[in-house]
Amino acid sequence: MKNLILVTGGTGYIGSHTAVELINEGYEVVIVDNLANSTTDSLDGIGQITGVRPAFEEFDLCNKPRLEKFFKDYPGLKAIIHFAAYKAVGESVEKPLMYYRNNLVSLMNLLECMNAYQVPSMVFSSSCTVYGQPRELPVTETAQILPAESPYGNTKQICEEILRDYIRSVEGIRAIALRYFNPIGAHPSALIGELPRGVPNNLIPYVTQTAAGIRGELKVFGDDYNTPDGSAIRDYINVVDIAAAHVKAISRLLKNQNKSDFEFFNLGTGKGSSVLEVVNTFEKVTGVKVNYKIVGRRTGDIEQVWADTTKANVELGWKAVRSLGETLLSAWNWEKKLRGIK
Ligand code: UD1
Repeated sequence: MKNLILVTGGTGYIGSHTAVELINEGYEVVIVDNLANSTTDSLDGIGQITGVRPAFEEFDLCNKPRLEKFFKDYPGLKAIIHFAAYKAVGESVEKPLMYYRNNLVSLMNLLECMNAYQVPSMVFSSSCTVYGQPRELPVTETAQILPAESPYGNTKQICEEILRDYIRSVEGIRAIALRYFNPIGAHPSALIGELPRGVPNNLIPYVTQTAAGIRGELKVFGDDYNTPDGSAIRDYINVVDIAAAHVKAISRLLKNQNKSDFEFFNLGTGKGSSVLEVVNTFEKVTGVKVNYKIVGRRTGDIEQVWADTTKANVELGWKAVRSLGETLLSAWNWEKKLRGIK
């Protein structure tokens, strides 16, 4: 029998790519999503890529009675990968309670059900945002957790603390938090990818939409940082590499059945790229010009961050393998498919 894994937020960007990798590795997947920021099109995409359209239940994880029913309907779950959360930094500043309620209550409901229905393992989507601007680069998992810059970032910190405290308090539950750096790109088939609503906040969707002519020009936020070309540096990592790390984390949790612990790992490439390097690489691999203008810094942005990935490399046995160029090309192929560009 296949191991059954619950993927919350599985119709979303990273969730859908992870569902593909899980199915390809022989797991059975059930997705729960309230479609707040995604559509069921990704289920079709997953089905086309893998030949298996995963089971899907549409509801909100904050609805505890409905979640209880789900756990009764799907006995024998082996693990949960919890992606479902709000993730827009700016929106979280405007609507902090919406962020705290959604991101914290959904996690607490899941943890209570894990205990009640004997589901022992969880992989939690965390973020490098928990490090703020680290003093030393590359940043390791032992770096100090700095006060969050936004309610969104704070929900990631608090969720990690909830996991740590809860796992200490009960027997037989274990979790791995994966701290993503900047996940970008799309599946090489261009059948699934990122679907930002309205004007994108993140760099890569803005770049691809500008290249597609949907946006007039990309604003590069700041060229006066203390970096080689003055623009800010991030660790951009292919979403399929990120997805593969979840499969490794699940296999680690399933192997350590008797352990009760909480671990966390950085998921990055170990290499930083500046905004201008991203634009130049995009133009080189796609042959499409990106109209851009340098403007002032964006409030709340840090100057530079990239990951030390040694812990994930050694302990998870995982490494990012896809290049920035290949990844940007996949993002462009996805954008072209969305817009019907040949
Ligand atoms: C942001 C969030 C982070 C969250 C992540 C995923 C902040 C401060 N951080 O990361 O907590 O986990 O998104 O949603 O918002 N840029 C431009 N022009 C643009 C857009 C971005 O120059 O139009 C620059 C930014 O200034 C930054 C880099 O591109 O230097 C990456 O930005 P973005 O993709 O928004 O990611 P982060 O800000 O790193």
